[in-house]
Amino acid sequence: MVLQTHVQINTGALIPSIGLGTWQAKPGEVQNAVCFAIKNGYRHIDAALIYGNEHEVGQGIRDSGVPREDIFITSKLWNTHHPNVAEGLEQSLAALGTDYLDLYLVHWPVRLVPNESSALLPVNPDGTRSIDRSWDMNETWRQMEEVYKTGKVKAIGVANWSIPYLEDLRKSWTIVPAINQVELHPFLPQHALREYCDNLGIRLAAYSPLGSTGAPLMSDSQIQAMADKYGVPPATILISYHVNKGVVVIPKSVSEARIASNREVVSLSEEDLVELDAMAANGKAKRVNTPLWGFDLGFDDWYGPIKA
Ligand SMILES: NC(=O)c1ccc[n+]([C@@H]2O[C@H](COP(=O)([O-])OP(=O)(O)OC[C@H]3O[C@@H](n4cnc5c(N)ncnc54)[C@H](OP(=O)(O)O)[C@@H]3O)[C@@H](O)[C@H]2O)c1
Repeated sequence: MVLQTHVQINTGALIPSIGLGTWQAKPGEVQNAVCFAIKNGYRHIDAALIYGNEHEVGQGIRDSGVPREDIFITSKLWNTHHPNVAEGLEQSLAALGTDYLDLYLVHWPVRLVPNESSALLPVNPDGTRSIDRSWDMNETWRQMEEVYKTGKVKAIGVANWSIPYLEDLRKSWTIVPAINQVELHPFLPQHALREYCDNLGIRLAAYSPLGSTGAPLMSDSQIQAMADKYGVPPATILISYHVNKGVVVIPKSVSEARIASNREVVSLSEEDLVELDAMAANGKAKRVNTPLWGFDLGFDDWYGPIKA
């Protein structure tokens, strides 16, 4: 099988299949990681306002010496900015030091109301998250369409949107989201969401492909056995899984050796892809990202705590 180096989105643009994730990269780490990654062939960086490191990410991009227009930059509208998308966007543009993004995503279908406790992660006096459950996500998307029309973002999309949320958004969208960035790996293959998005021309992007902090999926015996068979590290199997399926994948690393090896993908046999696809159904289902938003986000398998 010929592996796709790029994935085409509904604007016609091509996204490099493998991007560098930047969440939880500590201060002083991500600038070098981004610069190293770009010098070593990455052309796709996944950022977000809430990661608190976009200024370093932007510096790393400039340090690489590779022209801005050769790099695909994604950022995300944070939950506190649903009523003022243009303002959230400006903050990311300023931090990154660029005048446009290649892709801007609504980070979660959740609106947080800022208060004196915090500008980005506000809580109520009782300690629960300051969530506005009455907020209409269609209004957020209307504003996303407005910023798209300004040319400051070349494509718009969503992250963490389940089928019921997309169904609701469909009632009003005039621009179909280009991407739905979700947690995706063999323990959480999201087959129904994938089929749904495929039918609408929405591409999936896989976050936490290694299982997030500490890369726990790498120690699974089936993944390890497959890695041994191909003579590659387990991370390569987990990243190749997506590239073989035409899905964008954004592994995070701040280690130069791992950044380099994470781009080296292999062609997996049909049989092995079927095995990886079936792992969750065969008893290994697990979602690793379950933030306390206080309500069910509509994923079939969402079993995160429902208390805020
Ligand atoms: N839209 C959303 O809500 C959302 C949510 C989560 C993540 N994301 C995006 O997706 C990106 C990736 O997800 P993630 O950061 O949660 O987790 P991930 O990429 O699945 O895993 C990152 C962890 O794996 C380690 N690692 C990376 N490559 C490795 C390798 N080859 N061998 C061994 N360990 C390796 C990293 O440590 P080192 O850095 O030390 O290598 C880090 O501990 C994020 O950084 C972010 O950009 C988006």
